[in-house]
Parts: sequence; structure tokens; C-alpha cells
Amino acid sequence: MKKILVTGGIGYIGSHTVVELYKAGYEAIIVDNLSNSKKSVLKRIEQITQTEIKFYENDVRDVAALDKIFTENKIDAVIHFAGLKAVGESVEKPLEYYNNNIIGTLRLLEVMKNHNCKNIVFSSSATVYGNPHTVPIEEHFPLSVTNPYGRSKLIIEEMLQDIYKADASMNIAILRYFNPIGALENGLLGEDPNGIPNNLCPYITKVAVGKLSHLNVFGNDYPTIDGTGVRDYIHVVDLARGHSLALQKLFTESGLFIVNLGTGRGYSVLEVVHEFAKILDKEIPYKIVERRAGDIATCYADCKFAEKLLNFKTEKTLTEMCRDALNFQLKNPNGYEDD
Ligand code: NAD
Ligand code: UFG
Repeated sequence: MKKILVTGGIGYIGSHTVVELYKAGYEAIIVDNLSNSKKSVLKRIEQITQTEIKFYENDVRDVAALDKIFTENKIDAVIHFAGLKAVGESVEKPLEYYNNNIIGTLRLLEVMKNHNCKNIVFSSSATVYGNPHTVPIEEHFPLSVTNPYGRSKLIIEEMLQDIYKADASMNIAILRYFNPIGALENGLLGEDPNGIPNNLCPYITKVAVGKLSHLNVFGNDYPTIDGTGVRDYIHVVDLARGHSLALQKLFTESGLFIVNLGTGRGYSVLEVVHEFAKILDKEIPYKIVERRAGDIATCYADCKFAEKLLNFKTEKTLTEMCRDALNFQLKNPNGYEDD
């Protein structure tokens, strides 16, 4: 059984991916400093997979701790989720973002090199495309970033390309996620942000259950079907499956590849709101407010390369994404806090 080190494996996408890894026949070892997650998630992953999972509560910037993990376990590949991800916070705290995301990745890559571990899957983001001139977005489109979070992703992508140039025996998958939403169908795993959510879907689920009074829709004057922003929402379980396909590719064919993970279809904010309302059979109260600084009108992926390279095609619809997100909110009214 191949051993996969999952950094940030207690977090939202990481936890769903660990479940997928077991389904695909891999063993996962998790390292997470719990800066944005709760340890009880580990118990839930163990319950789902019916497996005891090795967990190291460490920071990926801690070289001695990482070295110990690689010494104690023969790691075949790393999936690197660990990092900070809030765009607005990154503008306020650029040093924290550069330190955590860039230094964290650098230390990880150094320890991998010392232990001759050649395979890595990296969590990048559609944010590296900036404001695209056209959609759907193909992987070769020009890159640009407007905030420290996005810049940290772009710098890491460039670091990985340099490392590959210097050592072509490295196998590197750079995955650019579009907008992950949803939750595990059984409601055991989901998205549990701290405080008031920044992102659309976790905000709506809180409005749906009355924890927040209404949704603020950031602008209705974009050049889109109804004036509200359009995004490519991808079910987190589909996204997680993309990771096990990427690993499979790295283990069978060497090289570096960069691939979009989205559905290829965009939905507006109001379309998402209406989808939730349909499932709930009640209105989601919302107010149109000013545009949010830094937002773009439309962003969705061209998925042809993911299909060709990885045989990756999403299976879950927007209805399933919203239903599963709601189910998680209803089954876990205080997120993981009550565990
Ligand atoms: P998350 O915050 O839920 O998970 C990240 C995990 O990493 C958390 O459990 C956190 O405790 C841990 N972590 C952070 N810094 C660490 C460090 N220095 N050492 C060890 N552990 C650390 O976020 P997520 O939504 O699961 O995102 C995972 C990755 O995917 C991130 O790199 C994020 O930037 C990227 N991404 C996320 C989205 C999204 O919308 N969720 C979109 C594009 C890309
Ligand atoms: N929106 C609202 N009200 C809210 C929250 C969001 O109207 O309360 C709108 C936004 O204006 C946007 C859409 O809903 O049009 C989606 O916004 P999100 O904040 O959910 O997602 P973003 O597309 O802005 O950003 C997300 C992640 C980024 C990542 C990007 C691409 O937060 O980190 O997807 O992957 F880079």
C-alpha cells in the first residue's frame, strides 16, 4: 500500500481527500498544525474509513518534525494542502501568508529532497488567472495576481517548476481548484469556517438555518446573466477524487503537469441562492450591496485537459453540492465544535 503524506489533511479539502485515498487503496499519514481545523475531524475520518490513521500535530515549517515523519514512514508521495487561504486576511497580514505558505512549502520540499521523495501534488487555485480575458479558462492562459494569497500560490507554482527543471526525476502535479463547495454525503465531513464565513456557500447555509439574517450579494451590475458574479462550483468529493487520479498519474508517468479542477460550468450568485431555496422550499433572504473589492465577474474552467490527462470528469450537480452542504450544516449546527 503506497503511503501518502497529506499536509493539512484535517482541513476541508484535505479531510475529504483522505477518505478518497482510502477508497483508492492508499494509506494516508496526516500532518496538520490545527491552525484552521479541529482534531475531532480525525475521529470522523477514522470512523468513515474504519482505519486508524497516523496523525502528526506539527507545522510543516518545523523541519525536525517533518524529518521525523519521513524517517518513521517511507513516504511515496505528498499531497500538500497546508496553508492559509483567506484572500482578505492575506491583504492585512502579508508576512503571515508568505511565511506560512511559501516557507512551509520550501521546508517541505527540502525534507522531501533529503529523503528522496520525488512525488508531490500541490493545491493551487484559479485565483492565479486573475481577471481572465475570456472564459472558459485554459491552463495556458496568462497568470496574474492581486493579493498576497494569490501571489503565494503563484510563487509556489514557479518554485515547483524550477525544482522540476533542476531534477526531471521529480513528479509534480499542480492542481488549480475552482470553487470547492459541498460536503460528504453522510454529513460527517464538511466545511466549518471560523467565525462569519467569507465564502458564498458556507454563508448561505448559515442564513438557511437562521444563524445569519440574510446574504449580502456583492454587486448585481456585472456583465453576467443576472448581474451577479459567476463561478465554477465543484463538489468537494469530486475535487478529492481528482487528487487520487493525479497521484495515479504521477505514479505511472513521470513529469510535471498543471491542471484545472472545475466542472466547466459557471453559476451566478443568484442561481446558487435559488438552488438552495428550491431544496429548502423557502426563500433565502438577500440584499444587493456594493461589489466586493477584488472580485471578478466570471470565472469558470476549461476541463478538457483534466479529462484527457487524468480521465477526470465531475459527477455531482449543483443540486447535490447545495444539498450536501445543507445536510452538513443541519447535522452539525455548530460545525465540529460539539464533538
Ligand atoms: P483549510 O484551512 O480547511 O485546510 C488547510 C489545513 O492546513 C488546515 O487544517 C490547517 O490547520 C492546516 N495548516 C495551515 N497551515 C499549516 C502549517 N503551516 N502546517 C501544518 N498545517 C497547516 O483549507 P482548504 O479549503 O481545505 O484548502 C486546502 C488548500 O487548498 C489550501 O492550500 C488552499 O489555499 C487551497 N485552495 C482552497 C480553495 C477553497 O476555496 N477552499 C480554493 C483554491 C485552493
Ligand atoms: N459572494 C457574495 N456574498 C458573499 C460571499 C460571496 O455575493 O457573502 C459572491 C462573490 O462576490 C462571488 C461569489 O459569491 O461572486 C463567490 O465568492 P466566494 O467568496 O465564495 O469565492 P471566490 O470566487 O471569491 O474565491 C474562492 C476562494 C479563493 C479562490 C477562488 C478560486 O475563496 O481563495 O475561489 O479558487 F482563490
